[in-house]
Amino acid sequence: MSRISLRRLRQDPHIRALTRETRPHPEQFIQPLFVVEGLKERETIPGLTGVYRDTPESLLAQIESDLAAGVSKFLLFGVPTAHATHAISWAFTSSQIAAIKKRFGKRVWLAVDVCLCSSTPHGHCGVLNPEGDHLDNARSVEELVAAAVAYAREGADCVAPSDMMDGRIGAIRRALDDNGLERTVLMSYAAKFHSTFYGPFRVAADSAPKGANALGDRSSYQIDPARPGDALQSVQRDVAEGADILMVKPGMPYLDVLADLSARFPQPWAVYEVSGEYASIELMAEQGLTDRVKAHREAWTGLVRAGASLIISYGARHAREWLQS
Ligand code: PBG
Repeated sequence: MSRISLRRLRQDPHIRALTRETRPHPEQFIQPLFVVEGLKERETIPGLTGVYRDTPESLLAQIESDLAAGVSKFLLFGVPTAHATHAISWAFTSSQIAAIKKRFGKRVWLAVDVCLCSSTPHGHCGVLNPEGDHLDNARSVEELVAAAVAYAREGADCVAPSDMMDGRIGAIRRALDDNGLERTVLMSYAAKFHSTFYGPFRVAADSAPKGANALGDRSSYQIDPARPGDALQSVQRDVAEGADILMVKPGMPYLDVLADLSARFPQPWAVYEVSGEYASIELMAEQGLTDRVKAHREAWTGLVRAGASLIISYGARHAREWLQS
C-alpha cells in the first residue's frame, strides 16, 4: 500500500493557490469610524494602529481618502459631549450622518451603531432603574428606537443596535417602517458576548461603565461566553423580529458559534473582529512577535471559513493591500 501524501498539494505556491477553499475578499469589509464632538485634533487609539478618534472635519477627509483607496463601507460610532440618563439627544451623530451623506451620497454605504453607552453618564448601554442595579428594558428600547429613526432619517443605510436589550429589533423595525424608512437595513448584534476584548474600543468611544452604580459590568445584558444556547435563542428571536443581517461578536474566540449559527440560519452573517482582537495582532507585530500582514490575513481567513460574509475590522482600509500581498 502506498503512503498517502497530503504534502503533494502543499509543495508549491501554484498548487496551494489552486486548492484553497476560502478567500477573504476586500469587498466583504466594513471599516469602523469614530467621530468625537468638540475634539480639536484627531487622536490615535491605543492598540488600533491606523484608526482614529476623528473630528467632524478629519472624518470627512478620512472617508475621502478611504474612497480613493476603494473602501466604501463604514460603521460609524458617534461620541457626543452631552450625557444624559434618558431622553438622550441623538443630534450630534445625526449631524455627522447628514454631513457624510451630503458630501458622498451613495458613494458610501453607511451603517451606524445604535447604543446608549457613549451618551449616558454611567456608560451602560441602556436606561438604569431607580435602584441602579438593572437596565430598564422598555425605557432603553424607547431611546434606541429614537436613535435608529433619527439616524435613518439622515440617510444611514443601515442601523445596528449593539445594546442587547430584549425586543429592540422588532421595535426598531416597526418604527422605521411607520416612518417611511422601510429601506433602511437592520443589522443585529444578535450574538454579542460579554467579552474582555472590547478594551481599546471603550477608550475610543468613551463607553466604559463608570461611576457608582450597583450594575457594575455589562454581564447582566451581554451573553455569557459559556452560553452558546443563549446566543442561539437571541438569534432566533432577532430573526423572528425582522433582522436583515446577523452578527457574531467578537470573532476569533467565538468561531464555533459563528460556524454553528451560520449553518443554521440563511441570513447573511457579519462578524465583528473587535478592538482587542485587532490590537492583539498589532501589539504582537510591534514587538516583532508576528508578521502583521500575514497574521491579519490568517485571522480573516478563519472568520470567512467559519461562515462570515461581512467582516467588520479595524483593518478594513488595508484589506485590498494585505489580501493581495
Ligand atoms: C457598544 C459597543 C461596544 C463595541 C461595539 N459597540 C462595546 C461594548 O459593548 O462594551 C465593541 C467593539 C470593539 O471592541 O471593537 N455597545
